[in-house]
Amino acid sequence: MTIIRSHLIGTGYKLPAKILTNDDLSQMVDTNDEWISTRTGIKSRHIAAEGELTSDLSYEAALMAIQNAQIKNQEIDFIIVATVTGDHTFPATAAKLAKKLGLKPGTPAMDVNAACSGFVYASQIADNMIRLGQIKTALVIGAETLSRITDWTDRNTCVLFGDGAGAAIFQAVEGLGTKDDTGLLATKIYADGEQFDRLYSASGVSIDQKAGYIHMDGKEVFKVAVPSLVQGVEESLKIAGLSIEDVNWYVPHQANLRIIDSVAKKLNIDMEKVIVTVDHHGNTSAASIPLALAESFAAGKFKKGDVIAISAMGAGFTWGGMILRL
Ligand code: UT7
Repeated sequence: MTIIRSHLIGTGYKLPAKILTNDDLSQMVDTNDEWISTRTGIKSRHIAAEGELTSDLSYEAALMAIQNAQIKNQEIDFIIVATVTGDHTFPATAAKLAKKLGLKPGTPAMDVNAACSGFVYASQIADNMIRLGQIKTALVIGAETLSRITDWTDRNTCVLFGDGAGAAIFQAVEGLGTKDDTGLLATKIYADGEQFDRLYSASGVSIDQKAGYIHMDGKEVFKVAVPSLVQGVEESLKIAGLSIEDVNWYVPHQANLRIIDSVAKKLNIDMEKVIVTVDHHGNTSAASIPLALAESFAAGKFKKGDVIAISAMGAGFTWGGMILRL
């Protein structure tokens, strides 16, 4: 029996030109390269220029993905942007982008706020629409300008985050419905609102009409991040009918190299197979996974037939995973 699968046909990314190093940060707050490097693995991050918006980064990432997919903008049937730093309170950044990209009139456009798990959430939504036959081609973007909600006087948080955007295009292709199919083989998402105040902004439209700054109970988030990222991979592998030995590459959310190391150990996957970008991107929340994917494609790391496992965890808490065969 044939079924519809979502194939990843193109990726793209955009990083702002400005690079902020650990040494730069040590001029701003009481920190140093040694602390940041050993505790997080981060060496530098990109910071959006004044007036450079989440939609601008998304637009450039989308153009690159469209070019790599070799499709026309008009072939896109759905656009979804995962972000916690959209341009406007409303409407969605996706709607603004639909206009900027000249998508065909009526193309549905929405944002999703699932923090660092946003790309996995957005991909699941797009995949479900593709598999139901509602759309054929989806543009899924993860994009952030976290520098706008970073308290640059707080050393606990300001050393961690960065700006950027990644884009992925998924398209319907017929498969046989077996574990040997290509395309998205599984997606799985979770949330636990009990942990809401471990990682949050104290402000918001309904509270004080402000965006607020990132607050994080780093130690507690760390403890939950490791099992959540492991669960995202293990459960989606189970759905796909595959095991960790089938995985060629693991693309985790990029928050902290120590978290990534620990998850890789628990999954029993060699670090050679793990994509690490946190060293030069920092934590870019919803953008982290599509950025890592697109940068790896551009570097020629992936080949046809590779199985990629992905998992993410972030504020909410939200978490999840997905399995993709190229
Ligand atoms: O994206 C969503 C998921 N997010 C995450 O997964 C992040 C999870 N958490 C983490 O990555 C880590 O908890 C952090 C990197 C945020 C912090 O690392 P830690 O090893 O948990 O350090 P800590 O917060 O326990 O701080 C240890 C010490 C403290 O000093 P005292 O109280 O022991 O004297 C901090 O004040 O390090 C101090 N500290 C710093 N020192 C120099 C905190 N930030 C800095 C800094 N530079 N930037």
